[in-house]
Amino acid sequence: MRLTIIVLAAGMGTRMRSTMPKVLHPLAGKPLIRHVLDAVGPLGPEKTVLVLGHQADRVRSVIEGYDIEVVHQTEQRGTGHAVRQAVDVIASAPGPVMVLCADTPLLASETLRSLADAHSRSGAAVTVMTAMPDDPTGYGRVVRGRSGVMRIVEEKDATPAQKKIGEVNTGIYCFEKKFLLFALGGIKNKNAQGEYYLPDTIALARKGKRKVAAVLCQDPDEAMGINSRIDLSQAEGIMRIRKNVRWMREGVTLIDPATVFISDEAVIGRDTVLYPNVRLEGKTTLGEGCMVYPGSRVLDSACGNGVTIKDCCVIEDSRIADKASVGPFAHLRPGTVLGPGSRIGNFVEVKKSVIGEGSKANHLAYIGDATVGRDVNIGAGVITCNYDGFRKHQTIIEDGVFVGSDAQLVAPVRIGKDALVAAGSTITRDVPPEALAISRAPLDIREGVSGRRKRMKQKKG
Ligand code: UD1
Ligand code: CA
Repeated sequence: MRLTIIVLAAGMGTRMRSTMPKVLHPLAGKPLIRHVLDAVGPLGPEKTVLVLGHQADRVRSVIEGYDIEVVHQTEQRGTGHAVRQAVDVIASAPGPVMVLCADTPLLASETLRSLADAHSRSGAAVTVMTAMPDDPTGYGRVVRGRSGVMRIVEEKDATPAQKKIGEVNTGIYCFEKKFLLFALGGIKNKNAQGEYYLPDTIALARKGKRKVAAVLCQDPDEAMGINSRIDLSQAEGIMRIRKNVRWMREGVTLIDPATVFISDEAVIGRDTVLYPNVRLEGKTTLGEGCMVYPGSRVLDSACGNGVTIKDCCVIEDSRIADKASVGPFAHLRPGTVLGPGSRIGNFVEVKKSVIGEGSKANHLAYIGDATVGRDVNIGAGVITCNYDGFRKHQTIIEDGVFVGSDAQLVAPVRIGKDALVAAGSTITRDVPPEALAISRAPLDIREGVSGRRKRMKQKKG
């Protein structure tokens, strides 16, 4: 079937109360309009036309790479008026025309395909997709007569009796091209909003004794239209649960799936456990048997098998090898590579550094622009002083080094294999292998000082 598809996206989305056009608001991290275009793509349409109006340039910037033609609706005078902007495209369309709105992001391609199939089977002038949501408020209601759908009444034009109708218009239709061209010329704007309503084409078909068909969308969530931020949050919840259910089927444990976010690009191995409030963003992969504890966010990072991420970590653009452990409260910044079995503990920040197999930095450290070998111990409070105010410099810590607590390693500097850095030392030169480096002010102990002070105080009092 040589289908032409028209997507309506010219409205501002007043009910969003936003300076940003509605269709740019992200759902699961992706603008609404791209959800709809991604659902349309697999139908292999002859042509896809997008009707833009409000801040068209801003909308265009998020749809680069899609094979679509854009037409403009300079004044938003209703959905019928919006489709009218595409008459030239419709006139040259080889087959039926499907129209849908850019604010129904939960639609699946199969559902659209079933509408197109039903339309070609029925030979109707127009086939409309309807739904039975729990709450029909706000949608156009489908008025049926003895011989099927008669017309659609918008909420604002509906009588109290019509408002009780549970079947609603999803805003998705398939039209016979000739009929659509005719009907676009026939719709009027005599209604509560003074707009040209596309759904009025249905009453026109009836009037012309043409066939009207309807297909019920089995899952009313799919047809959900996003008009407000409340709708947006509900859709976010629906998408999250859908995706999370898929991962649970694949063998991942989610302790509280309502609070876990998993991006579309994320990949998770079996027997991995995600605790509440975990976010896996961007191109993140977790191997098998990993544990991610509450409140951690992992972004564009790859983790091997058996990795533990304790509570409240932020991990960005990093690679973590098998059985390594991070957190709680650790920050891995871009370019961090953790070797197998290595451990990054609480309040440790790592940036652009490689940590070798079995090495540890368990408490309160900053490791930046460093290459750390195997089995290195980095004590509490150790800092690589990588920045001199102008440039970043490298710190190299070879295998088996022990860096005592509160040492500062002033880069560029190299600590040789198996060397010892004494606690509290400031290292400003390279340390050869197996050496001890110690820099400390001499310790001075003066006996009896505290006792004398106490006695003086007592005298004064
Ligand atoms: C519309 C339908 C309603 C249906 C609902 C399904 C009409 C008159 N009503 O109502 O029957 O139940 O969708 O979600 O069609 N748009 C333009 N130009 C305009 C007006 C709108 O491009 O002049 C675009 C919007 O950007 C949006 C879409 O059309 O993507 C739908 O507009 P919206 O105002 O959200 O219509 P609803 O009130 O939801
Ligand atoms: Ca809408």
